[in-house]
Amino acid sequence: MFNRYLSRYASTPIFTIVGCVIILFVYNHVSLKPCRTDDKFLKNALPVVTTVYTTRPRTTAQTGDGYLPIDVPWTAAHNKDDYVKAKFDKSCYTATLPFHIPKALRNDSELHERDCVQRVPRAIIPGIRKCGTAALQHFLTVHPYITGPILEVHFFDSKGKYNTNGDSEPSYGWYKQQMPYTTVEEIGIEKTPAYVFRPPDLPRRVAEEMPPETVFIVTLCDPVRRAVSDYLEYNRKKTGTEEMMGLHKYVGETFESSVIRNGYLDQLNEFVDMGIYLKHLLRWLDHIPMNRLHVVDGGILAEDPALELRKIETFLGVPHFFRREHFYRNESRGLQCMSFPSTQHCLPLNKGRVHPDVALDVFKQLCDFYRPYNLALENLFRQKFTWTEIC
Ligand SMILES: *[C@@H]1O[C@H](CO)[C@@H](O)[C@H](O)[C@H]1NC(C)=O
Ligand SMILES: *[C@@H]1O[C@H](CO)[C@@H](O)[C@H](O)[C@H]1NC(C)=O
Repeated sequence: MFNRYLSRYASTPIFTIVGCVIILFVYNHVSLKPCRTDDKFLKNALPVVTTVYTTRPRTTAQTGDGYLPIDVPWTAAHNKDDYVKAKFDKSCYTATLPFHIPKALRNDSELHERDCVQRVPRAIIPGIRKCGTAALQHFLTVHPYITGPILEVHFFDSKGKYNTNGDSEPSYGWYKQQMPYTTVEEIGIEKTPAYVFRPPDLPRRVAEEMPPETVFIVTLCDPVRRAVSDYLEYNRKKTGTEEMMGLHKYVGETFESSVIRNGYLDQLNEFVDMGIYLKHLLRWLDHIPMNRLHVVDGGILAEDPALELRKIETFLGVPHFFRREHFYRNESRGLQCMSFPSTQHCLPLNKGRVHPDVALDVFKQLCDFYRPYNLALENLFRQKFTWTEIC
């Protein structure tokens, strides 16, 4: 927003001068408390990131620059009857509306014939909360080859479900029951944004217990905006402190009072900690190879969903279905809506919530805090994220 003001007024010399004076004044007089950055982590981990991880081979899904896959002409992407054929002719379900939520299971003989069973997901969206995971899951399940529950499954992060007996036998039966029936060609996908950062041994368990071909898709967005969005969601519920696994979530009367405690940025507050994407993803990369993790630019997802969806199609190895023509922007709500194949779905990319302005000093403190992590993240994935320019 600031940049927009600058560019609009920059052409008028008087405004440029006045603007610069104001900026200098604010810069010098707003007291910017130094943030206690996680020095140990930065010193130890960042050199490792830039040396060890960036030497790993890139996968097709991460080739970035100027990338757009070759289009496969596919009438299922334009014609509703062809879409229904592509999605349901070989599927375990018959067509019902809305098409992306499978409801009418075929009879036993057909299920057997088609080798339909409930399987653990081939792809998991483990995060990041408030970066468009719900919209991503919704969009993806519209694809003729992709299916999965719309609701969050919470298998690995829930003791009761992951480990029903309280001993070492995880209950994969329960996990499979949450998934739709799939043929071997279909890709089952589940989304639970809590996986990415809790509990600490989750990535190891997932890596050891899930089939080795399981892949992971993570959406990343501006961590400052994410924190505000997260705060707004919790603030609807209650204020106070909630302790969990060495982190806490302190919800104050305002966003600023929640993340700044005694003049310092409260890095252990979950609102702040979750935005240290680098830290959380490195925990995963200790257990899963880089080429099984695909990173989605949440900024692009919110503006041009087809572009990110097509990269995911390549990553998953499914034919390209999503087109720009499938989406339109509802200006009044600031949402991307999908108008194919059934009537319009308007999807809650950011749940349409209007964000309050964050106090400038707090905004700057958060930006300064996240900047080194964001840069290291770009090095790690050799990918420039649109949202790193916001700060
Ligand atoms: C299963 O459904 C198919 C297609 O609707 C039908 O042709 C078949 O007779 C049914 N089989 C049984 C055992 O009901
Ligand atoms: C945009 O959203 C508003 C509010 O939900 C709705 O009334 C309107 O019809 C939508 N417009 C389009 C073009 O989808």
